[in-house]
Amino acid sequence: MADGTDPKKQLRSRHWYGGANKDAFMHRSWIKNQGHPDHMFDGRPVIGICNTWSDLNPCNAHFKELAEVVKRGVYEAGGFPVEFPAMSLGETTLRPTAMLFRNLASMEVEESIRANPIDGVVLLVGCDKTTPALLMGAASCDLPTIALSGGPMLNGKFRGCDVGSGTSVWQFSEAVKAGEMTLADFMSAESGMSRSPGHCMTMGTASTMASMVESLGIGLPENAAYPAVDARRKRLAHLVGMRAVQIVKEDLRISKVLTREAFQNAIRTNGAIGGSTNAVVHLLAVAGRLGIELTLDDWDQWGRDVPTIVDLMPSGRFLMEDFCYAGGLPVVLKALGEHGMLNQDVVTINGKTMWENVKDAQNYNAEVIRPWDNPLTAQGGIAVLRGNLAPNGAILKPSAATPALMQHRGRAVVFENIDDYKKKIADPNLDIDETCIMVLKNCGPKGYPGMAEVGNMGLPPKVLKKGITDMVRISDARMSGTAYGTVVLHTSPEAAAGGPLALVKDGDIIELDVAGRGLHLEVGDEELAKRRAHWKAPTPPFDSGYQKLYVEHVLQADKGADLDFLVGMRGAGIPRESH
Ligand code: FES
Repeated sequence: MADGTDPKKQLRSRHWYGGANKDAFMHRSWIKNQGHPDHMFDGRPVIGICNTWSDLNPCNAHFKELAEVVKRGVYEAGGFPVEFPAMSLGETTLRPTAMLFRNLASMEVEESIRANPIDGVVLLVGCDKTTPALLMGAASCDLPTIALSGGPMLNGKFRGCDVGSGTSVWQFSEAVKAGEMTLADFMSAESGMSRSPGHCMTMGTASTMASMVESLGIGLPENAAYPAVDARRKRLAHLVGMRAVQIVKEDLRISKVLTREAFQNAIRTNGAIGGSTNAVVHLLAVAGRLGIELTLDDWDQWGRDVPTIVDLMPSGRFLMEDFCYAGGLPVVLKALGEHGMLNQDVVTINGKTMWENVKDAQNYNAEVIRPWDNPLTAQGGIAVLRGNLAPNGAILKPSAATPALMQHRGRAVVFENIDDYKKKIADPNLDIDETCIMVLKNCGPKGYPGMAEVGNMGLPPKVLKKGITDMVRISDARMSGTAYGTVVLHTSPEAAAGGPLALVKDGDIIELDVAGRGLHLEVGDEELAKRRAHWKAPTPPFDSGYQKLYVEHVLQADKGADLDFLVGMRGAGIPRESH
């Protein structure tokens, strides 16, 4: 038992707080300035609470209160809670894109854990990138770790109707461009959309990642759906604090929970909930930190036959509050288990198997969580496309796409980068109609840099005015989890790394074949070789600082867009003393 009594298995915090020498004096004395009594240093587990609170990250702005509740649980279970900050990544605020900083935040988390007297970790996660960043950092250290999501906002409301974070913004802004909504109405919807603490309440990236936490078994059951303001979210926080102490005593490390089988459960869950395409790069990156072989093909094969049964925006109609009242993620996991699509025996962070956690779940609303044989989409999951335009893969979310467009051949209209797109898209002389395929280059990990969520580029106003709401779009970018459309994303290798996407020209014919998993540019090899000879890599906007490090080391999307030198687990170790 790692309780500090067996010197061979003593807690790592004892290397700071144990003993009667000068160093132990210094370690204890300084932290006692916060009023901690002597018995906090008697060998009890020290639980680090990694907090991504920030006023600049609205989705995590309630985390100070949540951390206090986690501490109550830690104290009750006989542990010593210590809260520490991690860079908070506010999706709506950070420029050029929060994704640029996911890996940076993960480095901060990893080094903060390893450098401090921490025996177990609670990760407070919420807004999109905070969940993968903290999981990645903690995975690199491999201490006993439990994650707690901050919970979604209450349903957005506007003039008696539900409005969903992000999803309704895309709809409203297209309606304004099409002349179907006034600007005044658009502006007045703003306050009703985000009317409580919490993260986006659509099945966007944050709710998807909260569902990944629960389906991976690294969070407690019910982690995904309780709204941020629901008292049960705090109850969960209290239990997380208590459990954090126990997992240290049981030495239940993150690597014992996040196994390949757990990732399979999560990927299938993503299909069943109609989850965000961003989960692909995030789970690949977390698995990479643990040394688990996980590939794009796993995403395609494991998710292919999973029906999307959760009817939430952006794929469907409802929102996270409705999902919670319908029974939440345990209902979905139970349905997967009943249809042979759940590794039931995997151990989860509460010490029980996944099946023990979910077998008694009940569905209280069959419209929100639909019957298996009457799904929203028969084949959910993520389609992984390959061909001469994406040798290493590209992805598409079938549940968010227009069925008629999933088999499509069209003329390319090319935008060299996001500025080129913004300059041309509203031009009435742009030679484009709804049968064309919009191609956006240089928005991948190196190209943007940071792989921004611009892949769901808005349609040209002249097409929108015809009442058309979807066209095939292809890019090396990502897409907001709250967005929708027949959008091919994460094309790898990206244009800025010299991928074939860089060679596409206006007028080229492209064929998208989702059923056959194909993405083909109908241009001969000889012509492509000629174009390649004239291709020049774009100049990155920054040639110093973190952005330089990022561009030089970021992996392509099919590898999770982590930095190459961060892949693999390095362990928690005991760093050398400084005095
Ligand atoms: Fe934070 Fe959507 S902006 S979760």
